[in-house]
Amino acid sequence: MQAFILSVIDKYEASPVRLLTILRNIQAEFQHISAEAIEFVAITLNIPRTQIVSVIEFYSFLHATPTCKYDLLISDSITDHMLGKQELMSYFASQLKLTIGELRADGLVSLNNTSCSGMCDQGPAGLVNGYALTQLDHPRIDAIVKLIEQQVPVKQWPTEFFTVDDNIYLTGLLLQDPIEPGDALNARYLRGLVETLTEIDISGLRGRGGAGFKTAMKWRFCSEEAETERYVVCNADEGEPGTFKDRVLLNSYAHQVFEGMTLCASIIGSEQGFLYLRGEYLHLYDKLQNILQERRDTSLLGNNILRQGLSFDIEIRLGCGAYICGEESALIESLEGKRGIPRNRPPYPVSQGYLHKPTVVNNVETFFAASKIALEGGQWFADVGTEQSQGTKILSISGDCKKPGIYEYPFGTSIKQVLQDCGAADVLGIQVGGPSGTFISQDEFHRTLAFEDLATGGSFIIFNQTRNILDIVKNFTHFFAHESCGFLHPLSSRNIVIKKTTR
Ligand SMILES: Cc1cc2nc3c(=O)[nH]c(=O)nc-3n(C[C@H](O)[C@H](O)[C@H](O)COP(=O)(O)O)c2cc1C
Repeated sequence: MQAFILSVIDKYEASPVRLLTILRNIQAEFQHISAEAIEFVAITLNIPRTQIVSVIEFYSFLHATPTCKYDLLISDSITDHMLGKQELMSYFASQLKLTIGELRADGLVSLNNTSCSGMCDQGPAGLVNGYALTQLDHPRIDAIVKLIEQQVPVKQWPTEFFTVDDNIYLTGLLLQDPIEPGDALNARYLRGLVETLTEIDISGLRGRGGAGFKTAMKWRFCSEEAETERYVVCNADEGEPGTFKDRVLLNSYAHQVFEGMTLCASIIGSEQGFLYLRGEYLHLYDKLQNILQERRDTSLLGNNILRQGLSFDIEIRLGCGAYICGEESALIESLEGKRGIPRNRPPYPVSQGYLHKPTVVNNVETFFAASKIALEGGQWFADVGTEQSQGTKILSISGDCKKPGIYEYPFGTSIKQVLQDCGAADVLGIQVGGPSGTFISQDEFHRTLAFEDLATGGSFIIFNQTRNILDIVKNFTHFFAHESCGFLHPLSSRNIVIKKTTR
């Protein structure tokens, strides 16, 4: 065991900030992180044993006690419930002859709940050993039970069990015409640094992660900091139930997202970026690593990018199952190998972020939009939308509608239009922005998508008249009870998690 751990620690340059990655690797090999492993990591990395224990306790995907060969988690999003999750889970448990939440007596398999796994358009969904399972039904469960009893390795299971579709139904300004790799960076070098930032400013682009802070302003603040070691972080934690648009952007438009990060680096003067990818999107990890390598091979990452003197690279860090790590300061703590406890602000990440150095944290969609704006110019984007909300917004639509999936709309679009496009009938109401967002009912369907009206990070969960509002409330309350221990951060409208969930 020690030889294995040493090789992992070596691979990650004995860096305590990579503690989560190191622990993930140890767990993948031994199905848990034993007391002996914790002790050894503590000594080798020269960090307190208690710090490692508290990190393992915090993240729901890390385990200090032995887990099983097949770790099954079923997504507990309201949309999974609407698709019959509860009955399917009981069926799963009966077929596997186990009790939900407990290891089966032979130690082979366990079945438990997990918070929304980001597959609300193709549920009921789950995870097996961290890999996404979609469209669970009785025949699929029967097949999975058989594979488990025969102890077939997960890597040899039928690929269709792991198919994750994009389900893009409406493309607009951004989705219909992605950039070619390098186009935005070339445009930025032709135009100049100050001029490019001016274009981002003119575009009116505001953060797509929820808070809607002006992107150009964030980048400018960061670039004006005296400290010159600066970082770019892409927030791909996407933990809000009902949100899955970042999953699709990373699956099919990753070049453009990475280009947006590199563009930001060239403007703020950064040499290192991170993609903080939620653990539930493990299925994207290898694909994204390959795209990063492609970009290095074509001078779009690494030293002297496009022979313009910029050195910048991107590292992917996987989350370990904690909704709170979507909050930017908690995310930064997690990137530093710690528990995802939000920091007191100010100081904000732009002045003291990763390793307390100036850091830009933006949502996946924000970087995606910024790179196209760098190519097309700010006015091209600003011409679309409303006066206070320029451009388009990408929505993740799920629940009671014919076509759950991804829709891109100009800001200012009415909710009525959205419902019509996705085939929603007899609608009771919509949860806009996930459980921490707003519930609107029929008399508000004339309202529009806009920061000044219905602001959203992108989650739209539709409920028809057959749904019981109390079931919805119960599910959301359960989500917060498990993802938070009731601590409400004074600077945020969202509930903050400070404790590992039982999931
Ligand atoms: C509890 C909580 C969860 C959050 N989750 C996410 C998330 O999953 N993705 C995201 O981009 N922003 C999330 N945010 C917002 C981030 O803190 C931050 O504002 C955002 O990443 C900034 O990027 P933007 O300016 O591009 O929106 C969350 C905030 C809170 C309070």
